Amino acid sequence: MGRAKKVVLAYSGGVDTSVCIPYLIKEYGVEEVVTFAADLGQGDELAPIQKKAIEAGATRSLVGDLIQPFIEKFAFPAIRANALYEGRYPLSTALARPLIASRLVEIAREVDADAVAHGCTGKGNDQVRFDVAIGALAPDLKVLTPAREWGMSREETIAYGERFGIPAPVSKKAPYSIDLNLLGRSVEAGSLEDPFLPPPEEVFEMTSSIDNAPNTPQDIEISFEDGNPVAIDGERLDPVTLIRKANFLAGHHGFGRLDIIENRVVGIKSREIYETPGLLLLIRAHQELESLTLSADVLRLKNQLEREWADLVYQGFWFSPLKDALDGFFEPTQNQVNGCVRIRLHKGNAIILGRNSNTNSLYMPTMATYSSDDIFDHQSAEGFIYIWGLPSRIWAAVKKE
Ligand code: ARG
Repeated sequence: MGRAKKVVLAYSGGVDTSVCIPYLIKEYGVEEVVTFAADLGQGDELAPIQKKAIEAGATRSLVGDLIQPFIEKFAFPAIRANALYEGRYPLSTALARPLIASRLVEIAREVDADAVAHGCTGKGNDQVRFDVAIGALAPDLKVLTPAREWGMSREETIAYGERFGIPAPVSKKAPYSIDLNLLGRSVEAGSLEDPFLPPPEEVFEMTSSIDNAPNTPQDIEISFEDGNPVAIDGERLDPVTLIRKANFLAGHHGFGRLDIIENRVVGIKSREIYETPGLLLLIRAHQELESLTLSADVLRLKNQLEREWADLVYQGFWFSPLKDALDGFFEPTQNQVNGCVRIRLHKGNAIILGRNSNTNSLYMPTMATYSSDDIFDHQSAEGFIYIWGLPSRIWAAVKKE
């Protein structure tokens, strides 16, 4: 592999990605490092991050607000797909990676770089997602991964940074590894590495504890159009505002915490603490509306394909023919998903109270009712069951002989 001259580095402002800058220059012989920091609603100030990159030796330091595409093009499709990895994790971190990767590739083209770089370690999922996405979008670009190769401990990394004027982290307080964006937080390391120990309350920021959640329940209504959430309590909201509001409401009532053992792509089981209040709430509501508006057979197959979709996104295949094909299956189903869902938020719970669709409900009261309005033909059931159960009776008869 020839040397890269100009590299676009995915930059967070943290010690690891900061150390990547001098490391790329000194150890990889890179001439120019251009950093890119994405705003995904994590709440960091971008101007100080920009300054930090220059101080660490970057020639240019770019920032970009990706919040809107993140929600519209990544979070909303995940809601339509009811995407829950291993049935539980709503992919809050995983969904951000292909977006960052695609922006890195665009910037590399704009500034005429011959490589991109990221600061992921060698044991996580994020390296897989970056490398696979970049490979799919720009197979000609080199991907440099200093943190995967340098083999430095945390202390050594900090010491290396200090040689190049990168300040050691001020607060040593939290021993956690945290990933954060508008969809949620992922917390690992420290005492969380013992999967039997309960997570300390200090790891949570977006959600109330059950104790601190209000005693009074709050009933809300979430409306959907074509499978996308569009309003809360009748108030139409743009996608970003809607996610913020869902985060606030669910988080306030202590809904949206996960404590799971997760199977990483690289074969490791890890203990993960997540807070994804809004996303989990919206998926729950969306599933509920689908149960009213999709036919039984479509629902059944969609449920199976949802699992595949979540696996693909988790494993780094956002840009892939199978993902496109699954989206192609989901799309027409979502034209049916119009209506609203009523949910009670209370003490860590999101309890479904009701669902309604004026245009697409397949629930037929005259079929379902036990009253005299019933139009279901009870007599027809006999013939249906005669044929439906025929294989069972034949099997039993033959077994007896
Ligand atoms: N395990 C989660 C995932 O794979 C979260 C990863 C968190 N990333 C991080 N750099 N701390 O999506």
